[in-house]
Amino acid sequence: MECAFFSAKLHDREFFDAANRRHGHRLTYFEPRLSTQTAPLAAGSDAVCLFVNDAASGPVLNQLHEGGVRLLCLRCAGFNQVDLRTASALGMPVVRVPAYSPHAVAEHTAALILTLNRKIHRAHARVREGNFALDGLLGFDLHGKTAGVVGTGQIGEQTARILHGFGCRLLGFDPTPNEACEALGLTYVDLPRLLGESDIVTLHCPLTPDTHHLIDAAAIREMKPGVMLINTSRGALVDTPAVVDGLKSGRVGYLGLDVYEEEADLFFEDLSNQVIQDDVFSRLLTFPNVVITGHQAFFTRNALESIAETTLANMSEYERGQPLTNEVAPDRVVPPRT
Ligand code: NAI
Repeated sequence: MECAFFSAKLHDREFFDAANRRHGHRLTYFEPRLSTQTAPLAAGSDAVCLFVNDAASGPVLNQLHEGGVRLLCLRCAGFNQVDLRTASALGMPVVRVPAYSPHAVAEHTAALILTLNRKIHRAHARVREGNFALDGLLGFDLHGKTAGVVGTGQIGEQTARILHGFGCRLLGFDPTPNEACEALGLTYVDLPRLLGESDIVTLHCPLTPDTHHLIDAAAIREMKPGVMLINTSRGALVDTPAVVDGLKSGRVGYLGLDVYEEEADLFFEDLSNQVIQDDVFSRLLTFPNVVITGHQAFFTRNALESIAETTLANMSEYERGQPLTNEVAPDRVVPPRT
């Protein structure tokens, strides 16, 4: 089938073209993000392929539908960027890649934890300058610390396994407990207890109406002073100005982000010659105890191969009229993007 890709990068072409030798779809790559301005690019295509910051709002979906698009293929796990109600009303199924490499995201989570704790970002810069002083680089043993995993699905479970390997005591919060995590010794508790007892809080739940700004000023007040907060899930789980306040007061001792609420205007582009207009993001960059990566937790060779294969297989199922293994149920409605 004919599929128009939005937000296409070189790595998308590389991995999708390779996997498509087995599927034979006609793929057209467009660099812009999906919006009301760019939706006409997909006219005449059967499907569109979207990434995390391609906002498929109601008006955009109507435009795509008028242009003949009948299938929305997300080359990611999260689906908070799609107005599922409108997609359902238009009869456009939404398919995604529910699991490609939970290891990729969990390992990146561990990288953020280790970098923040042992100040690798600062040490690297210092050593390159010939500064071998240790002042300000003091870390702590992860062994024996309490780590709270919010959302113990596929990625949360792999993160729990890694933290277990470090010798952490594990707490978890998830409406659907995971036996594999319990087998590791993770104890399920309510969110206030997890926040109150954890030295490290790591977020792995989806963005839904329940989890929007899960970590707000009130949640930060419940956390242990000096807590390490890690978010590799979705930016809007965290109320960023509240976390900035927490960093300023010292209540938040470390912040590791791979996602940011307003990342759509920043991430995946080279803006190094521009002045960043987002003052909250710019403030975050000034803290020595904050490490931010630009939504790269998924970015491993293994994950990209798996994303391409599953996405193209999703298209093939639709083309053949088969049941859609990875369809997002229309009732999994999430809040509009903020
Ligand atoms: P999953 O569906 O396997 O696990 C999510 C877990 O969160 C489930 O166990 C669910 O019961 C739980 N959950 C739902 N509502 C909750 C709530 N209110 N409080 C606590 N837990 C709740 O999903 P998976 O594959 O583990 O992915 C998790 C999230 O990671 C995705 O939703 C996505 O936003 C993010 N992600 C980020 C990537 C990155 O590159 N930074 C890449 C892939 C996913």
